[in-house]
Amino acid sequence: MAAACVNDALIVIIVALFLIPLPSSVVGGNFNQDVEITWGDGRGKILNNGKLLTLSLDRASGSGFQSKNQYLYGKIDMQIKLVPRNSAGTVTAYYLRSDGTSWDEIDFEFLGNLSGDPYLVHTNVYTQGKGDREQQFYLWFDPTTNFHTYSILWNPAHIVFYVDGRPIREFKNLEGVGVPYPKNQPMKLYSSLWNADDWATRGGLVKTDWSQAPFTASFRNLKINGCVWSDGVSSCNSSSNSSENNNSWLSQQLDSSSQRKLKWVQNNYMIYNYCSDITRFPQGLPLECTLRNN
Ligand SMILES: *[C@@H]1O[C@H](CO)[C@@H](O)[C@H](O)[C@H]1NC(C)=O
Ligand SMILES: *[C@@H]1O[C@H](CO)[C@@H](O)[C@H](O)[C@H]1NC(C)=O
Ligand SMILES: *[C@@H]1O[C@H](CO)[C@@H](O)[C@H](O)[C@H]1NC(C)=O
Ligand SMILES: *[C@@H]1O[C@H](CO)[C@@H](O)[C@H](O)[C@H]1NC(C)=O
Repeated sequence: MAAACVNDALIVIIVALFLIPLPSSVVGGNFNQDVEITWGDGRGKILNNGKLLTLSLDRASGSGFQSKNQYLYGKIDMQIKLVPRNSAGTVTAYYLRSDGTSWDEIDFEFLGNLSGDPYLVHTNVYTQGKGDREQQFYLWFDPTTNFHTYSILWNPAHIVFYVDGRPIREFKNLEGVGVPYPKNQPMKLYSSLWNADDWATRGGLVKTDWSQAPFTASFRNLKINGCVWSDGVSSCNSSSNSSENNNSWLSQQLDSSSQRKLKWVQNNYMIYNYCSDITRFPQGLPLECTLRNN
């Protein structure tokens, strides 16, 4: 009898564990909860009870989604499997952006290519409506055969782009010496798949082959650790802080091992850096380029 009671109690506890709703920032991975499909007339789909999201593109339209919340600082991880085979002309974008004409933006864009030719990862940072801070990379794997994790860390000290946990780019907060830094405007997460064959692949030389349509990119395991911004109040400032939310990302820095990984990517896979493009800036490189390696 006693044993049966213990068993019953255990079952109750186990069932209860599955029923307790956890904050979305901890669970992650439910697109139904965190995002909404905003365009594409059915070409974007949330599947498997919110665990998978697919975007597709055909001649008539692309598609896209955005987060329901806006954030002032965040660490976003998302796994993406990019459009396979001939993806030339297509762009899969994944970015944070604020509203207005003087917006801030943190961009990942994946530029497709012919079968067997490398995808290009294009990154940019806009502050107060001004970008022109492109860095581009090849990847050290084929991003179309499996899901890989692409992350954006945005905290008061810096913005870091990661691929599978490996930093590929850091944009430091150099506000102290006059470089604007995104810190006042809350941003939403956006993602989309669209046709950009006027510029994306080899500068627009290779066009989208519509006989291959529809093109599809897949997303899963979205994890947003962010300071939700609502009516001028940040969730990171609330008293319900510490117990359930691990906000260590808010002060996360690049340790020496991460610095080495960053250097490895920049030495071996970076193919364009605005900070090295002297001919583009005849009046002189942007300030952040002259201060440190950015
Ligand atoms: C596509 O492949 C070509 C040839 O390898 C390469 O030059 C180019 O950078 C690749 N990516 C894009 C987006 O054009
Ligand atoms: C938190 O609140 C304090 C005081 O109200 C304010 O100075 C600070 O900027 C807030 N921080 C965030 C991240 O909102
Ligand atoms: C909440 O978290 C933020 C960021 O970690 C911290 O600055 C703030 O002091 C915390 N507030 C409380 C009431 O614990
Ligand atoms: C918070 O997260 C960091 C990195 O994600 C981890 O190293 C640390 O152990 C976590 N702390 C707690 C209290 O969970």
